[in-house]
Amino acid sequence: MTVQNQATATPQHIAIIMDGNGRWAQKRHMPRTVGHAKGAAGVKALLQHCAKLGVKYLTLFAFSTENWGRPAEEVSTLMGLFFQYLEKEMSALANAGVRLKVIGDVAGFPPELQTRIHAAEAATQHNQAITLCVAANYGGQWDMVQAVKNWHAANPTLSANHLTPDQLAQHLSTAGMPDVDLLIRTGGEQRISNFLLWQAAYAELYFTDSLWPEFDEAELNKALHWYATRERRFGLVQTQKLKETA
Ligand code: FPP
Repeated sequence: MTVQNQATATPQHIAIIMDGNGRWAQKRHMPRTVGHAKGAAGVKALLQHCAKLGVKYLTLFAFSTENWGRPAEEVSTLMGLFFQYLEKEMSALANAGVRLKVIGDVAGFPPELQTRIHAAEAATQHNQAITLCVAANYGGQWDMVQAVKNWHAANPTLSANHLTPDQLAQHLSTAGMPDVDLLIRTGGEQRISNFLLWQAAYAELYFTDSLWPEFDEAELNKALHWYATRERRFGLVQTQKLKETA
């Protein structure tokens, strides 16, 4: 576990619950789906801003396992936006050194979207500027259950007594990625909503009333300034932390 000098630290991994698209549109007397389109359009600038600042991983909650319960039109708009994003933006992002990773139960998506996802992941797998991790048909509880199943499949002769947190982490959908440093939720609610439950164990939690379509680079800078003031102890006390950083 790394204990960092928080005053100068840029988070390595930012995760965002992009909430408030529907309200943003409704306030303007427009259909909720317009809010999702506006929300998707803002992703590119934020991603570029993160890359410029040295953030290495940006994980976005695009579609939760619970979102299937929304009206059919809204579900298909969200799928369409994700598909279009992969279609239109991925080659520019790939040229800018962005690696795409999709986490979640992708098998639940239409076959053409699955093909597009796998192609974009393969095409960008060696890029190093920043990883854009899109959580789609994702739930933190699903992730932990599939990790246990995969661990068991990889170690069929071992009893559950051999399972350790490190081994479980190697079978999560985020295996190989650092844990979340900063978890942002827009839209005014203060909950984690089954997002990266394991990976955000020690994340700093930043909640803002800004709706996702309004969350621009200046809003992200505010979150980063707030993050820089946080003292992260990872369950230790201040004196232990000072010894570790010395
Ligand atoms: C929450 O707003 C947002 C979502 C459920 C989906 C977010 C998806 C996108 C921005 C588009 C696709 C993403 C990428 C990476 C291209 P809400 O509908 O719950 O808003 P509300 O709380 O105001 O109703």
